Amino acid sequence: MSEPLGPQSTDTQIGEAYRNRVALITGGAGCIGSNLCHALLEGGISQLVVIDDLSAAERWNLPPSDRVAFLEGSILDRSLLTRAFAFRPDFVFHLAAFFANQNSVEHPEADLQVNGLGTLRVLEQARATGVGRVVYASSGCSVYGSQAPLPLHEEFVSLHLNTPYQITKLLGELYSNFFHNSYSLPVVRARLFNVYGPGEIPGRYRNVIPNFIYWAQQGQPLPITGTGKETRDFTYVGDIVSGLLRCGVLPSAVGEAINLASGVETKVIDLAQQVNALIGNPAGIRHAERRRWDTHSRRRAAIDKARMLLGYQPRTDFASGLRHTLAWFQNHRKEIAASARF
Ligand SMILES: NC(=O)c1ccc[n+]([C@@H]2O[C@H](COP(=O)([O-])OP(=O)(O)OC[C@H]3O[C@@H](n4cnc5c(N)ncnc54)[C@H](O)[C@@H]3O)[C@@H](O)[C@H]2O)c1
Repeated sequence: MSEPLGPQSTDTQIGEAYRNRVALITGGAGCIGSNLCHALLEGGISQLVVIDDLSAAERWNLPPSDRVAFLEGSILDRSLLTRAFAFRPDFVFHLAAFFANQNSVEHPEADLQVNGLGTLRVLEQARATGVGRVVYASSGCSVYGSQAPLPLHEEFVSLHLNTPYQITKLLGELYSNFFHNSYSLPVVRARLFNVYGPGEIPGRYRNVIPNFIYWAQQGQPLPITGTGKETRDFTYVGDIVSGLLRCGVLPSAVGEAINLASGVETKVIDLAQQVNALIGNPAGIRHAERRRWDTHSRRRAAIDKARMLLGYQPRTDFASGLRHTLAWFQNHRKEIAASARF
């Protein structure tokens, strides 16, 4: 008889727990979702159901497979959700979101619709169909606000948030708690930090790393919107996927909020210099106006809880992660040029 799964389980054992099962990924064509799809397919999942309205992603980002049922549309669409849940998923990874801070400042109602009502509808369907596990992608850069002491621990949550996105990512956690506490829905709140890696197409509302790579490839100076000394806890998407897979099957994760991060601080100016050096961009950096909402000077997550409950271990150092990301850009040059949304 095989040993029960626990934090000590290897990645292979965790992957095997998904074999011959069914998973639904909302937002599955996005950066994290597409990487999660690859991992689940490699692990032998029998059926993947992906809902994505392609508002921030491209179909080509999804792995081609006859085990993927792609449902194009919004999580706000009840009939689409009913079709997705008719596959009887064992696991739901709820990643679809209106992304991210600046976008939400410009479009607060759309943010509330997708991140608030959309999350509520996904949770309602999960409860109605008796899903075995829901993993909600929360945001560590949102829920802790800008005043929390470092490293950021799970028990500190701020009510002083700076953008509609930060508010609605916290709202998603509150709904998750409600469904867990009132209906015993097995939900895990994974708090992700500054995820980067293959699969994130650059664009106006996207994260700093894909945009820096894109501009550096064009020989443009990289804009620093602050002093450059601000730090972020950049986390490679492969490590995030490994953490999410653990959240999906380990009993110890149920009902918990768990940081998934690298636990390492990197200065934005150092990031810019590394990207320029990697690409050979002679244009350097330029200083740009700080965004009003961007008051987080330093970010570094505590990952002891993830280590303890999940056996989570980030494995990709920043330099390797940047190289993998750049390789993805080089291999998808044409698609990225056609899809970048500025
Ligand atoms: N990338 C990060 O740094 C980070 C950090 C913390 C939390 N998160 C969370 O992780 C999740 C995934 O992030 P990501 O980086 O892959 O972002 P992403 O934008 O690449 O992925 C989100 C996906 O959701 C889709 N989507 C948006 N609105 C939708 C709707 N109404 N219906 C269906 N699909 C919709 C988009 O097209 C996109 O493919 C999000 O919930 C995000 O809030 C991300």
